[in-house]
Amino acid sequence: MRSKPEDQYIKFMTETYGSLRNEFDFTNNFTELDLGCGKGSFTTQLGLKFPEHLIFAADIMIGRLRKLQKRNQREGISNIHPIRVEARHLIAMIPDNSIDRLHILCPDPWPKDKHRANRLMCSDFMAQIHRIIKTGGHFHFSTDDMQYHDIVRNVVSKSGLFEENSELLAELKEIKSDFEIRWNSQGKEVHHFLWVAKPLPSYTSVH
Ligand SMILES: C[S@@+](CC[C@H](N)C(=O)[O-])C[C@H]1O[C@@H](n2cnc3c(N)ncnc32)[C@H](O)[C@@H]1O
Repeated sequence: MRSKPEDQYIKFMTETYGSLRNEFDFTNNFTELDLGCGKGSFTTQLGLKFPEHLIFAADIMIGRLRKLQKRNQREGISNIHPIRVEARHLIAMIPDNSIDRLHILCPDPWPKDKHRANRLMCSDFMAQIHRIIKTGGHFHFSTDDMQYHDIVRNVVSKSGLFEENSELLAELKEIKSDFEIRWNSQGKEVHHFLWVAKPLPSYTSVH
């Protein structure tokens, strides 16, 4: 892969297993992760709205991260850290109780049964994201796909690890992701959800 000037600001974590704890202070910062950020219009607006937050923008596609990084440089944003990485791999490298707000926006719904394994949102994944989200932290999800919407709500609710609270979406209402803008322009509505991470059940000591 030919490198581009903006690559020096992108963290490449596809072939490595490292800890982010040594490089970033998760404890003293309000920390946000936009997982599958794409070209990152949402992340950029988040960075502008909350310049004091520590924000990670993760995606597997380098072209999209480059676009995000170029925009951030143009806008003078310095609190967004793009990471090229596979989502599950990144989660495994994030310490317990680190993230205040996780965003998974308009992920590919993979509607066909034969592609089911590609879907991020499954019961196993719920436990993984619960581990990295601080107790009381937020999980923000959106989709335009009603079938996926029902599946995800069901999976989150069955996990018993989160409690829905849509009132907490208020401060994010004006911020739209690239895919939300695209679906809206085609007349499709995008539905947003926010769940608050509950403490681990008493019968469990670790995830
Ligand atoms: C449909 S796009 C949504 C992008 C953005 N969140 C938005 O709403 O505009 C899904 C994004 O997730 C990324 N993605 C899909 N599977 C991924 C995975 N396993 N790990 C990391 N990124 C992934 C894709 O590269 C793509 O940029």
